[in-house]
Amino acid sequence: MKVVVTGTGGRLGAAVARQLRERHRVVAYDRRAMDLRCPQQMDDHLGALEFEVLINCAAVTQVDYAEQHPVEAHEANALAPAHMAAICARRGARMIHVSTDYVYDGAAPGLRRETDAVNPLSVYGRTKREGEERVLEADDRFIVARTSWVFGPDRPSFVDQIIARAQKEADCGAIADKFSSASYSLDMAEQLDFLLSVREGGVYNLCNEGSCTWHTLGQAALDTVAALGWKLHTRTLAEQRLADMTALLAPRPVHTSLDVTRLAAATSLRPRPWREALADYLRTYYASPVR
Ligand SMILES: NC(=O)c1ccc[n+]([C@@H]2O[C@H](COP(=O)([O-])OP(=O)(O)OC[C@H]3O[C@@H](n4cnc5c(N)ncnc54)[C@H](OP(=O)(O)O)[C@@H]3O)[C@@H](O)[C@H]2O)c1
Repeated sequence: MKVVVTGTGGRLGAAVARQLRERHRVVAYDRRAMDLRCPQQMDDHLGALEFEVLINCAAVTQVDYAEQHPVEAHEANALAPAHMAAICARRGARMIHVSTDYVYDGAAPGLRRETDAVNPLSVYGRTKREGEERVLEADDRFIVARTSWVFGPDRPSFVDQIIARAQKEADCGAIADKFSSASYSLDMAEQLDFLLSVREGGVYNLCNEGSCTWHTLGQAALDTVAALGWKLHTRTLAEQRLADMTALLAPRPVHTSLDVTRLAAATSLRPRPWREALADYLRTYYASPVR
C-alpha cells in the first residue's frame, strides 16, 4: 500500500513510518515538511500525491500547553484532521486518525470501550474530540484510533523521564490514583499496520493490554533498569495523589484505561500486556547501563 504518515517528528509517527516502510511505500511528513496549521500546505502536498491511506499522528499533545494555546490546539487537533479527511474523502483514500483517552471524563472506574460516552475535560481533550468527529463524519470507512501513555525510542516519555530522575534524585514519586493504559509505540505501529486491512470504520482503542498508573508504570521501569545494572538513587517511587499536583493546569481524567477487545476482534492481534512491552523496550534500548 502507499501510506502517508504525518507527525513523523514525534514519538509515535516516527515509529509508525519506520515500521510501515518494511511492508509499504510510505510518504512521511514531519512539521517542517508540512505544517498542519496551514491548509494550503496540505492541499499542495496531498493534492498532488497518489496514496491509499493517510495515518495522522500529528497533534498538539502537551495537555497544559494546549490549555494555554487553545487556538493552536484547535487548528492542529481539530481543523487539520478535518481538512485532511476532506482531502482523503475526495481522493477515495482512507484515513486513520490517532486520538486520545482524554476524550473521556474518566469518572467511572474500569476499562473504557469505544462506545462509552465521551466528555472531555480539557482544551486538549475537546480539540481532539472535535478532530475525531470531523474525521468520522467525512467518510464511514475512516478510523479513529484512541491511545494513551505512549512510550518508545523516538522521543522521551514519562518512562524515560522517571528513569532519568531516579538516576539523579534520592526522592522521586509518581501519581498513583490516575489509571490508564500504556502503549509501546512499536506495538502501536504493528496494530496500525493490521488496521490498514480492517474495512469497518469507527473508533478502535489501540494500546498494550492492561491498566496502570504513572506509579506502577514508573516502578516497573525502575525495577527493570535496576535489574539491567543501572545505578539508581531512587529504587522505590513514592505514591503521589493527583489532587496534590497543583502545578497541573488542565484537569486530568482519572479512569481512562482502554479496552482492546474491538481491536483484537477485528484483527488477529492480541495486544501484549504493558509490562511485557515495557520490559521489551527497556531491554532493547537500555541494555547497556552507560547512558
Ligand atoms: N504521547 C501520549 O502519551 C499520547 C497519549 C494519548 C494520545 N496520544 C496521541 O497520539 C498521537 C501521537 O502522539 P505522540 O506521542 O507521537 O506525540 P508527539 O511526540 O508530541 O508527536 C506529535 C507530533 O505532531 C507534530 N505537530 C504538532 N503540531 C503540528 C503542526 N501544526 N504541523 C505539523 N506537525 C505538528 C509535532 O511536531 P514537533 O515535533 O515539531 O513538536 C510532533 O512531532 C497524537 O494524536 C496524540 O494526541 C498520545
